[in-house]
Amino acid sequence: SLLVPSLQELAKESNLTVPSRYIRTEQDRLVSISDDDHGLHFLDQIPVIDLQKLISDESAELAKFHSACKDWGFFQLVNHGVSSSLVEKTMTEMQNILKLPLEEKKKFRQNSEEVEGFGQAFVLSEEQKLDWNDPMVLTTLPVSVRKPHLIPKLPSTFRETLDIYSLELKDLAICLIEQMEKVLKVEEKEVSGLFEDGLQAMRLNLYPPCPQPEKVIGLTPHSDASGVSILLQTHDVVGLQVKKDGNWVPVKPIQNAFVINIGDVLEMITNGEYRSIEHRVITNVQKERFSLATFYNPSLESEIGPNHRFITEQSPPKYKRLGMQEYMRGYFSRELDSKSYLDAMK
Ligand code: SIN
Ligand code: FE2
Repeated sequence: SLLVPSLQELAKESNLTVPSRYIRTEQDRLVSISDDDHGLHFLDQIPVIDLQKLISDESAELAKFHSACKDWGFFQLVNHGVSSSLVEKTMTEMQNILKLPLEEKKKFRQNSEEVEGFGQAFVLSEEQKLDWNDPMVLTTLPVSVRKPHLIPKLPSTFRETLDIYSLELKDLAICLIEQMEKVLKVEEKEVSGLFEDGLQAMRLNLYPPCPQPEKVIGLTPHSDASGVSILLQTHDVVGLQVKKDGNWVPVKPIQNAFVINIGDVLEMITNGEYRSIEHRVITNVQKERFSLATFYNPSLESEIGPNHRFITEQSPPKYKRLGMQEYMRGYFSRELDSKSYLDAMK
């Protein structure tokens, strides 16, 4: 992919007019019914799930969780067990990294062959529209697949926090998958076992304020190539929107909660019972927004495809079986198009 200019620098200009590479067509910007007020008065909201209630087998909470995974593919998670001090520290460290001076950031720039490092990935031509976002992608687990020129060279305070956060989020992802096994009545470990030495990646996002937010998109609509994704975000800025019945539903952040979503891989494993839903990010005039998406996937040695529990004569497999290695290779060589890769797995 091509190298993309730093939005961080661009956004600092006073009297900035948005360059044409960022300006979207009317069609792309199709707004939700609630865009005028950024959804703050929107009634429909993604469900809120309490992890402690799931763990202690409260049946009403388990039912709510099941329908969140099935009908929304998204929920906010409270009482998730990750301490607020670690969450705050991770947020601060992420902001420091994303606001490193340009000279410093250049050392960690994505090269044209890879998606890791600073810069937008999957940019294939000068004509392709860009997102109003300055991201950095890092593979974090297993430690053996970390790129030697990235995490090991980043400031030690960031690295130390990242190491703790990454392990806690791995445990949280596995715990969520175990809760799914429980409500889906899948044999213990049949699904969560695939995730034991799983592949974890993080995407750190900086969305600078934009003078014409209605003309740009912070993050193009897409579904995640993950098992589950766990999002930490600025707690007082609305930006993420989730597609529900053809509308874009804004997510109102809850302090100390994570936003969780089902990714393409769990949709494949559950043969479509749980859904990987399209989402996007919009920006605003005043406030910058930060987010950290943690993607957790089965181990590279595992094979993915519909679990037998979801296959009957009436519901044949909707997705093919393949190795994680092959799945990831296909994903990284794909042309940019929101849900096309999941469709290609049919
Ligand atoms: C965000 O809400 O900023 C990121 C969402 C995503 O990673 O898709
Ligand atoms: Fe995403």
